[in-house]
Amino acid sequence: QAFRLEDYRQSDYLIPELEMIFRLDPEKTLVTTKLLIERRDGVAADVPLVLDGDGLKLEKLLIDGGAVEHNDHEATADSLTITRLPRQSRFEVTIVTRLAPAQNKALMGLYVSNGVYCTQCEAEGFRRISYFLDRPDVLSTYRVRIEAREKEAPLLLSNGNPAESGALEDGWHYAVWHDPFPKPSYLFALVAGDLSAVRDRFVTMSGRGVDLAIYVEHGKEARAAYAMDALKRSMRWDEERFGREYDLDVFNIVAVSDFNMGAMENKGLNVFNDKYVLADPETATDADFANIEAIIAHEYFHNWTGNRITCRDWFQLCLKEGLTVYRDHEFSADQRSRAVKRISEVRTLRAHQFPEDQGPLAHPVRPRRYREINNFYTATVYEKGSEVVRMIRTILGADTFRAGMDLYFERHDGQAVTIEDFVACFEKASGKDLTQFALWYHQAGTPNVTVATSYDARAREYTLEVEQSVPPTPSEARKRLMHIPLAFGLVGPDGQDMAYDGVEGAEVEDGVIHLRKRRHIVRFKGVQARPVASLNRGFSAPITLSLVMRQKDRLFLACHDNDLFSRWEALNTLFTEALIDASTRVRGGKSADFDTTLLGYPAEIAADEGLEAAYRALALTLPAEADIAREIGSNIDPDAIGRAREALRKAIAREAQETFARVYRDLGDDGPFSPDAKSAGRRALRNVLLEYMAAGSGDPASAVRQFETASSMADRAAALSVLAHQFPGGDAARAALAAFEERYRDNPLVLDKWFIVQATTPGGKTVDLVRELMEHPAFSLTNPNRVRSLIGTFASSNQTGFHRSDGEGYRFLADAVLAVEKHNPQVAARLAVAFRSWRSLEKGRQEEARKALARIAGEKELSRDLRDIVERTLA
Ligand code: ARG
Ligand code: ZN
Repeated sequence: QAFRLEDYRQSDYLIPELEMIFRLDPEKTLVTTKLLIERRDGVAADVPLVLDGDGLKLEKLLIDGGAVEHNDHEATADSLTITRLPRQSRFEVTIVTRLAPAQNKALMGLYVSNGVYCTQCEAEGFRRISYFLDRPDVLSTYRVRIEAREKEAPLLLSNGNPAESGALEDGWHYAVWHDPFPKPSYLFALVAGDLSAVRDRFVTMSGRGVDLAIYVEHGKEARAAYAMDALKRSMRWDEERFGREYDLDVFNIVAVSDFNMGAMENKGLNVFNDKYVLADPETATDADFANIEAIIAHEYFHNWTGNRITCRDWFQLCLKEGLTVYRDHEFSADQRSRAVKRISEVRTLRAHQFPEDQGPLAHPVRPRRYREINNFYTATVYEKGSEVVRMIRTILGADTFRAGMDLYFERHDGQAVTIEDFVACFEKASGKDLTQFALWYHQAGTPNVTVATSYDARAREYTLEVEQSVPPTPSEARKRLMHIPLAFGLVGPDGQDMAYDGVEGAEVEDGVIHLRKRRHIVRFKGVQARPVASLNRGFSAPITLSLVMRQKDRLFLACHDNDLFSRWEALNTLFTEALIDASTRVRGGKSADFDTTLLGYPAEIAADEGLEAAYRALALTLPAEADIAREIGSNIDPDAIGRAREALRKAIAREAQETFARVYRDLGDDGPFSPDAKSAGRRALRNVLLEYMAAGSGDPASAVRQFETASSMADRAAALSVLAHQFPGGDAARAALAAFEERYRDNPLVLDKWFIVQATTPGGKTVDLVRELMEHPAFSLTNPNRVRSLIGTFASSNQTGFHRSDGEGYRFLADAVLAVEKHNPQVAARLAVAFRSWRSLEKGRQEEARKALARIAGEKELSRDLRDIVERTLA
């Protein structure tokens, strides 16, 4: 059964208010829900009330305090239908359900994680707690009373502001929470347990005080300090950049150790995967710190983009997610280096969204159909959704964009709205027609733009012949032409952007060419010398660009483009082209040869102190094997790609040996650890250099030294990965892995890094290692972080391991997916996504992957989540 956008209709009944009472017990929790039901005007009294449920058992049902006849209702696990209702338009329905949170391993609804009761309701988890109109356009104010044994759960939290609390008989106690803001059920949350609080206070721009708290397990308080700091910075930033102020007396964050996703923006009570809260120098890498900052901000920003203004239905998921990702990207860019942040965003988009958009799971940013909404929390909805908002800003300019956002907040506060409502605010603010632009929301697939350039020296005219096309995607064979904002510069011989007198053939404004037709011939007049075109600067549009360019010109851009993103992009393209070429040679039994000009450049970058260290680190990072595979596109042999990349790394390392060693040394020990962007950049550069040094010398000594003397997890984990990946099975690697395991025996989040390092060891032996590690005492099939670290990274990030030519990697993943799916369908479906690019592999692997997929599909009792992914992948 599929849900379709065009089938949307309003609910006949609303629930303006409700009251809940939880009596918590791990095996037998009673939930009493009193719903104030309101029949919409014009709806007849004999229209039944149909409430959603999921695996529920009805204990009791009352209407306006009286029992409901057997014949007047029907309760199943998945719905409660009441056919005989009061005539008046408002009445009260009381429902009692009984739950066993300790048995809930799907981690949706109410469950227990490490002794802490917590909830996850987005998208459709509330219906696993009580029967309800579980849809985002039904907004209610909640009053929640929680009762628990005081010993078991001294802390009782829900949404909104605290109202009341006190003692009960037999060692029980209670707390009442009231949330004055009407909200959809997916934003409901409850937490109860024995946790420690880290507290702080924030005064908003209008002078209202907010009590902040982050709750973590006892003994982990110090590791929440960075998250708290990030929260305060987020709150200030949203005031300054978007004029958005916080609206409750308290803001609570809870870190739990079993969580399906990253975090959840429940009103006033964000629940986090502890991986995105806990950090200190001893246990967290720089990437961990950056993720925490971004995700704390993301969930906080949802308070306005998601909670105050929410989605009409789940087809509109990008309304809150794409926009909020855009906001957290901007936040991180302001807190760190904008150029470096942009490069990382684009790398992520290409690594996750491009393969999705170019494979069997492609869907529009605003989908029109789904079978299981959990499978649409995707890179397309989140990341491409953010790119679309970014393009709106590019097209409108910063001030008009802000005016459109202001209008959105003003018009729709307290409502559940659509993408059309959102876009209309920018049309109103700008006076522009965004109909063609809005195709970015409605049409799947990555547009390709082909460009040919020519310069007429006599006429002083520079011409770009530009053509766009959008490849077909599942259920969208024919595509319409898009409005693509292509930022550009004409880089002159001195490295500066050149002026021109006029331009014909396309609308060009503020350094952006607006492509709207299939083909544009864009003529720049009065161009004094032959320029090099720098196109799609800052990655202004999420497209692929086909532009044949001389290596000399690309190298020129890599050295001189004043847009740092495009500088990185030029070099990255050079590496990618060289690697594609080399992998073809390797596959044909020849040796991988590389151009010496290209090999000479990395040393220059490493030593260029005019460039930020973080930028240099990114520039020196070779395209990942998966990036190369994606660029090749079909008939892929991952082993050849792996060998080509290894050869390039060695060749660069040998060429630059002395410089790399010197820069590594000079960057040396930089004193006490600080997680700030500049220090992180220095460590990133050092660690990239360490990888090269080990590859060039074939000697683990420098990595061993760094591993043993490291004063931060950032440096220790980097050294461990060099040892484990470049010297697998050797003494140095074995010793380092053992020492690391011993040191972090009691820290599951750090042991995840130990699992990841091993799961990503290149080569065909890793699948056996992963199988073995599943027996490790620290591994658990029911904890999503453990499953993702070991199984997830193996399948998604180990090209030569997962794609072992005999299909053993695929068979392993199929086994693992089926084992996880028994208790956690959502996580299982995510793991299965690793199969999505199977059709681009060479024939032998294709056949093995197909067999593994078919075996999953052949199982009789599959969850909706997994069946949906597997069937679309095979289709
Ligand atoms: N809204 C959350 C976020 O972006 C994601 C929650 C998704 N949960 C799920 N079960 N699909 O921050
Ligand atoms: Zn979100």
